[in-house]
Amino acid sequence: MVLVVAGPASRGLSRKLAAELAAELVEAEAKVFPDGESYIRIARPIGGEDVIVVQSCYPPQDKHLIELLLLVNAASDLGARSVIAASPYLAYARQDKRFLEGEAISGRMVLRLIAAAGARGVVTVDVHSEDLLRASDVPAINVSAAPLLASYLASLGLRTPFVLSPDRRRLREAEAVAKALGGDYGCLEKTRDRVTGEVRTEARELPVSGRDVVIVDDIISTGGTVANAASIVKSQGARRVVAACTHPILVSGALERMYRAGVDEVVGTDSVEGKFSKVSVAPAVAEGVRRLLKL
Ligand code: R5P
Repeated sequence: MVLVVAGPASRGLSRKLAAELAAELVEAEAKVFPDGESYIRIARPIGGEDVIVVQSCYPPQDKHLIELLLLVNAASDLGARSVIAASPYLAYARQDKRFLEGEAISGRMVLRLIAAAGARGVVTVDVHSEDLLRASDVPAINVSAAPLLASYLASLGLRTPFVLSPDRRRLREAEAVAKALGGDYGCLEKTRDRVTGEVRTEARELPVSGRDVVIVDDIISTGGTVANAASIVKSQGARRVVAACTHPILVSGALERMYRAGVDEVVGTDSVEGKFSKVSVAPAVAEGVRRLLKL
């Protein structure tokens, strides 16, 4: 029997995932002690089930990560047959290597902590770098939200759409979305200053004049990457600009930055639950869970 345990960061997604898997849903109890420590309880008895703990680790990442580790460990300790951690936004995944001497490889440590807590597998969505998953001590599966985002984008009635990846990394996703929308696609070149975090995007001629443009990325955090891309396509005559991403982290000021640059609409998924989770990643996560359960 499969049991979906809803972490406090992913209640809505957990309900949808339980429906996808025809599994029982149990909502974990969570609170914060007066000194700031997290408390977690799975109030339903566990014995022999395959437990799927669902908890995306968007901001506040450290709190959500600790809750995920506590949930995985509790489920394992209480007698689950196996525990799978489904964490669509894998916190720290962008620090997948040592960019500057002396840095911690935080993404690798997060994966190892999840395994050490008792997970026998991890499912994540559009992880920043698939290379990172090879560092996991247990099978870690990455699934794509691109087809789900594409179906939603197809319902927006975009005119002669052009799909743009703000750097080379997301070209594959841009291609998948473009195919679904019946448009074409391309990418820009982006560099980020490793110390200041400032993003620079090289302008290049794109066939966007009079067309609707969809900018696709894995994460929108400060909005700097999307804003640069939006300014470039706007200056070349793009009509409507939609920014679509899997993980709408949207730190303070991100929306204003993007709107100022000409973005008309922001589309995200329930990897980060909130106003911009217009698409659910539940079907993709369910596919990852099914693959792990077969292993
Ligand atoms: C980085 O390479 C990622 O794919 C995203 O482009 C990046 O995380 C977006 O961050 P921001 O919104 O802060 O520019």
